[in-house]
Amino acid sequence: MEQTILLQISEQYGCPTYVYDGNKIEAQFAKLSNAFSGVKQLKINYAVKALSNISILKLLKKKGSGLDTVSIQEVLLGLEAGFEPSEIMYTPNGVSMEEIEEAARLGVHINIDNLSILEQFGAKHPNTPVCIRINPHVMAGGNSNISVGHIDSKFGISIHQTPHILRIIENTKMHVNGIHMHTGSDILDIEVFLYASEILFETAKQFKNLDFIDFGSGFKVPYKAGDLETDIDELGEKLTVRFNAFCEEYGKDLTLVFEPGKFLVSEAGYFLTKVNVVKQTTSTVFAQIDSGFNHLIRPMLYNSYHHIINLSNSSGKERFYSVVGYICETDTFANNRKIAEIKEGDILCFKNAGAYCFSMASNYNSRYKPAEVLVYNNETHLIRKRETFKDILHNQKIVEV
Ligand SMILES: Cc1ncc(COP(=O)(O)O)c(C=O)c1O
Repeated sequence: MEQTILLQISEQYGCPTYVYDGNKIEAQFAKLSNAFSGVKQLKINYAVKALSNISILKLLKKKGSGLDTVSIQEVLLGLEAGFEPSEIMYTPNGVSMEEIEEAARLGVHINIDNLSILEQFGAKHPNTPVCIRINPHVMAGGNSNISVGHIDSKFGISIHQTPHILRIIENTKMHVNGIHMHTGSDILDIEVFLYASEILFETAKQFKNLDFIDFGSGFKVPYKAGDLETDIDELGEKLTVRFNAFCEEYGKDLTLVFEPGKFLVSEAGYFLTKVNVVKQTTSTVFAQIDSGFNHLIRPMLYNSYHHIINLSNSSGKERFYSVVGYICETDTFANNRKIAEIKEGDILCFKNAGAYCFSMASNYNSRYKPAEVLVYNNETHLIRKRETFKDILHNQKIVEV
């Protein structure tokens, strides 16, 4: 997105503000669809957790996306955005049977990832089609916190427990119409992805009534110029061949499902912040901004990289800065990073701020959550107001004891 537009937005809406490029989201959706155009039936279910603003969900709906949700609240958001229940996959982990019953009542597609719930659900709802999340025991993903398909992970039902799954299906006569895996985020090596897919195909053979196979997500996006990323076209070429061959072997045209978050929205996001203080110490120059890990936790949570540009002086001489927040604990966004010379009042822009940024924001230190702005076809729309003190007090019951 052009820097002048971002600067205008920072003037119009203030800082801190998240900005999303709707056309980039569309382009990513088209890129993934095109890479798998050789598959007869493809379904892309956007992972709501990445960025759950309802206007973003509506934009993706217009493109033909479905949704991947992990909580009943995300399901409700999807329904509110106009998705049909049949377009929503619900993939919870460790939630109560009551929540799963509620999802069943709402009519969304349930993806079950443990034997206990599978047995209970199958006994009660033998005619409701469900998907099963398999754990393929593959170590994949950019960081241990986002690698979820390995043997010690809490996610999915182990492939070694497939006989138990089959016994439950036999006993309850339940209807399993999909099989799913998600091994982790930031998977660079498509061979790892293909390897896990082979395990999924092997497992899928044992289920007789499948309509789809869901390969989850985990595509790595670039975080700076020249950075490595998952080669979607190569993955598309290779997986399409294998998927089509599997369908032939299975004797049915199944739907290939993906549930990308980062791939669709990460690069579309920009986080605009203002520099409150430039603080020179004996060892470091800190640029302290009007935000913290309350608004963007990824660097502190899993050491993620966000490229930072000084929009107010983008062609200035570069110097080293540690960019930090205003939180009462260490909240470092970047250590000794080369950035064009920073003055107090400058606007710093964080890139790759679309996925897992606003959706992980909190009110820690009783700060307001930022505003969100969508830019689409050269028009700017405020899609979430900045919070006010009223929001901080909302739901609090003041009791004098
Ligand atoms: C089950 C599931 N599907 C999809 C995603 C989206 O992954 P990504 O943002 O890497 O595309 C996640 C991320 O945590 C996930 O847990």
